[in-house]
Amino acid sequence: MLKKFSENDLYEAKEYTPGEEIYEEALDYLTFWDSVAKSEIEWFEPYREIIYSGNAPFYRWFLDGKVNITHNCLDRHIESKGDKTAIIWQGEPENEKEMITYRELYQRVCRFANALRTLGVQEEDVVTIYMGMVPELVVAMLACARIGAIHNVVFGGFSSKALSERINDSDAKAVVTMDGYYRRGEVIETKRIVDKALEACSVESVVVLERVGNDVNMVDGRDIWWHELEEGLADECECKALDSEHPLFILYTSGTTGKPKGVLHVHGGYNVGTHITAKWVFDLKDGDVFWCTADIGWITGHSYVVYGPLSNGVTVLMYEGAPDYPQPDRWWSIIEQYGVTIFYTAPTAIRHFMKLGEEWLEMHDLSSLRLLGTVGETIDPEAWRWYHKYVGSERCPVIDTWWQTETGMIIIAPLPGITELKPGSVTLPFPGMLVEIHDEKGNPADIGELVIMNPWPAMFRDLRGDPRRFVKQYWTSDGKRTYYTGDGARRDEDGYYWIIGRIDEVLKVSGHRLGSAEIEGALVSHEAVSEAAVVGKPHEIKGEVPVAFVVLKKSYEPSVELEKYLKTHVKNEIGSIAVPEKIYFVEQLPKTRSGKIVRRILLAIEKGEEIGDITTLEDVTVVERIVNVKGAK
Ligand code: WT7
Repeated sequence: MLKKFSENDLYEAKEYTPGEEIYEEALDYLTFWDSVAKSEIEWFEPYREIIYSGNAPFYRWFLDGKVNITHNCLDRHIESKGDKTAIIWQGEPENEKEMITYRELYQRVCRFANALRTLGVQEEDVVTIYMGMVPELVVAMLACARIGAIHNVVFGGFSSKALSERINDSDAKAVVTMDGYYRRGEVIETKRIVDKALEACSVESVVVLERVGNDVNMVDGRDIWWHELEEGLADECECKALDSEHPLFILYTSGTTGKPKGVLHVHGGYNVGTHITAKWVFDLKDGDVFWCTADIGWITGHSYVVYGPLSNGVTVLMYEGAPDYPQPDRWWSIIEQYGVTIFYTAPTAIRHFMKLGEEWLEMHDLSSLRLLGTVGETIDPEAWRWYHKYVGSERCPVIDTWWQTETGMIIIAPLPGITELKPGSVTLPFPGMLVEIHDEKGNPADIGELVIMNPWPAMFRDLRGDPRRFVKQYWTSDGKRTYYTGDGARRDEDGYYWIIGRIDEVLKVSGHRLGSAEIEGALVSHEAVSEAAVVGKPHEIKGEVPVAFVVLKKSYEPSVELEKYLKTHVKNEIGSIAVPEKIYFVEQLPKTRSGKIVRRILLAIEKGEEIGDITTLEDVTVVERIVNVKGAK
């Protein structure tokens, strides 16, 4: 029996949400996933076995099944929902909008799939997609999937340098991009960034969507306009029956080294996992207008803007621009205008709007909303309550969802109408998920590292080109096959989970994942820098911001200008989100005798906290000198 708390009235879930017995039933997780896969997903050919664990942690799911995620997102809806709106698109300029039915989306995907074929894109070829939030981004992803190509979406906020690294690492054959898109009233010149990236790598073709009509440079024999490529092509294209384990996409994410990891997901299991979590966690029903505000360049956008909702045949809203542009009520006016029923966003956005004030919400009728979600970082109870009160009018449950790029699907979250809520807690694991907390020795504990004890269908299958890192970084070597998440967590007396934050050197800046090592690498690549250490400093709105401690080479002097140059350098190397809020020039970094930088000390100095034990340092006087540098600012 689940406990009942007094604080939150139970939400009335729609008819097909399971009852609370599902938690018990799903403990037999293979039977559970088998029944989900069979009842929710259409297979061209049934699978022979649910799982193969013989080569763990390289698990395989739904063996020898034939499937294609685009069939489940498009083809199967055409007969019953052909005229239903699949995508509502709102451009940043208010007069630019589009309603795309399931039939139209199907046709556009087919046509673009044919277009990719004319470029010679084949099964397992990688296509890098670098675009803003426009429907064609979804079309391009689904078109790749339809013909068995692998998409690699790169977030539009990444720099040309970061883009070229990802194009190179993934061995992309083609790039799909656009002339530009709008952000805060300005045109982001996407194609220009691609041109710069392609100076450092090469691809066979670049497809360019015309969106804003700015001047772009087209390279003969390589670049082609989207609309010209599609001319005369059919709007039907066979949906390839692919193996369940056929790769669907690669998405790069940050880890503890300077090199981003290419997380690999596959058609079958990812379809099953994102479909059922979208359906149950957001209690989807036919008339819903589902708005997940994440950019498609991150996993949240892949799983809960594109694949999960479309597989469920609901209407998805996509918005091109900034949340508070031209006014702080932009999001709320969109919710009112389109009757959004389910709204899924990040704590950083909620804190931002809290700060801007309730009056921007009170101008709008938000009564269409019936469920609110949050993801990306821990939501503090205060922001939770504000979200619940002002956005949800105390009517809508706030569903806090914990998961990762690697997990592909939501792993811990309440089931609306079944699981009682506690502000600030991600509550309980999704049915079929066995989650624990381990102490440093790997023993079960109430506080420690969050671990997952069983495989799940939407789990990532590998890191592109680095299977060794896949095994080493995430899985225990003792044959226990436990997945280590890198997050600290605690479990309370009701068995509820509370996420504390990353325990490794990974930052969450406005919910975006960045590695300390990645930013340090960018700094060190500048000619003036000898060494760098980056820590995540708590920030009221963004959750965390990077702060850097830099040792300059002998011939360089600290200056305000140099700090500026270094910030611009990081922006060019990675993107604006990685730029340190502050750069301190220090003589030395605190290091252990074996030469490891002790970032914990730098963070304590930055926060003005007790520094703690420094006896392991090679030179303890370093600490005092850094404190003095900081004090001088
Ligand atoms: C990391 C994964 C897939 C979601 C988008 C981010 C943190 C995610 C929560 C939450 C507390 C959360 C964790 C996790 N995180 N959701 N509800 N409460 N922390 O995906 O970029 O792969 O980041 O985001 O630290 O490890 P990601």
